[in-house]
Amino acid sequence: MRTIDWNDESKNIVLVDQTYLPVELKIIECDNLASICEAIRSLRVRGAPALAAAGGFGMALAVNLSSATSMEMLLKDLKVAADTLKATRPTAVNLAWAVNRVLKATEDAYDLDSIKDIVISEAIRIADEDVKINKSIGKHGHRLLEDGDRVMTHCNAGRMACVDWGTALGVIRSAVEKGKEIEVIACETRPLNQGGRITTWELMQDNIPVTLITDSMSGHVMKNGMVDKVIVGADRITQDVVFNKIGTYTHSVLAREHDIPFFVAAPISTFDPNGWEETVKIEERDADELRYMAGQQIAPANVRVYNPAFDATPMENITAIVTEKGIFQPPFLLDEVMM
Ligand code: MRU
Repeated sequence: MRTIDWNDESKNIVLVDQTYLPVELKIIECDNLASICEAIRSLRVRGAPALAAAGGFGMALAVNLSSATSMEMLLKDLKVAADTLKATRPTAVNLAWAVNRVLKATEDAYDLDSIKDIVISEAIRIADEDVKINKSIGKHGHRLLEDGDRVMTHCNAGRMACVDWGTALGVIRSAVEKGKEIEVIACETRPLNQGGRITTWELMQDNIPVTLITDSMSGHVMKNGMVDKVIVGADRITQDVVFNKIGTYTHSVLAREHDIPFFVAAPISTFDPNGWEETVKIEERDADELRYMAGQQIAPANVRVYNPAFDATPMENITAIVTEKGIFQPPFLLDEVMM
């Protein structure tokens, strides 16, 4: 089952609503641009590669629902849809990458119907490619893991963060497929608990041993020799840093302190070769994500809150980056990695 897909019969997007996990595997449908934008903002669909698919399929919804009667009008509608989709979440570059790729594909259109065909087939292609890319990341990346490794991960970079298979968890899945015994330590990932809710659920479904810890325990478990390697996904890789879920930087500093290899697994679509740490906007999310948990108030209702969704890990803290093209060691020259 895919995390997100296009239903060509009903011309809508079908996706797992991840806000219900692990309690319920709820499937929802998005029939219009507003509903897919809401699903992205609310993290019903989340994770950089899944956001790419959502962006592509969002464009497919827009082309399908447009009442434009000329190519010019339709392309204008698509441009508005593209801007709306890209504004939903600014940090994961994959979303903008997919939307721009769909827009670019329309340059080959010759009439109104061809625009529709091109947009829908390009969106489907992006989703199909994602599965193959994740398998390739796993094919290369499993070599980083040895039989018996205890591997820490943060947030969810599994099949729920992609169309299928996963990046960081894809590497773990591929290692297990090769017969290696891997134990995972999943960090809870406050405030929205993608690690506690989604990573643990995914791995348990695959019978991969997993232990849940709070984010603040990572130093303790590393110091006590309970972690052999760390592997995480990424939302954007610039010349100097890897942006990923808030907390990743802290784990990277601790891993370096304890001589533990720290790996990043991500598709090439996550790379922003012209970006630098200071040029990227880190999404700040609603204060209530810290004031409430599962509807229960856990802090004063009016306390001032700082809630950045991502942080930046410097390249010096990273041992290797694995993409669909292979494993890369420092120095990470983005032009070479992306070739
Ligand atoms: O806010 P989220 O849940 O979308 O953040 C997701 C992450 O930070 C993931 O680690 C990242 O997107 C990589 S997913 C393969």
